[in-house]
Amino acid sequence: MAYLPILCYPDPRLHKVAQPVQVVDARIRALVSDMLETMYEAKGIGLAATQVNVHERVIVIDVSEERDQPLVLINPELVWTSPTTHLNEEGCLSVPGIYDGVERFDAVHARALDRHGVVQTIEADELLAVCIQHEMDHLMGKVFVEYLSPLKRNRIKTKMLKAQREESR
Ligand code: NI
Repeated sequence: MAYLPILCYPDPRLHKVAQPVQVVDARIRALVSDMLETMYEAKGIGLAATQVNVHERVIVIDVSEERDQPLVLINPELVWTSPTTHLNEEGCLSVPGIYDGVERFDAVHARALDRHGVVQTIEADELLAVCIQHEMDHLMGKVFVEYLSPLKRNRIKTKMLKAQREESR
């Protein structure tokens, strides 16, 4: 396993659209292991392959308190969304230190392959539902700050670039 560097907003590579995984093989399983290690190390609850500069439809999630219930979603699709939505305070490993409200479905049903290539259907609500929607956005090249007003987004962009400049000094 290896820790993978996480792309930071506004890196343009975060806006690439991920391609479907053709076959869940040893390469994909190694990617999943690395992504899980990276997510746990970064203390995140979800990570999309896009964020580690791999543009294939792979997501790892763990919303459990104990950090011992990894969920792997390969080629995820939403097969049902609740008629109701709510505003949820979100953050992202690619936008460190920024939290803001995004409107999300209260519940979703997602169909995806697991790390063995077996189809699973996940019925999610609360934090897991939000997390699935947030990570699936990443696979479409969308970062949560893009739901915010242009003013807020520009402010965040400026702040991120400044932090990145200071870090690279
Ligand atoms: Ni994120």
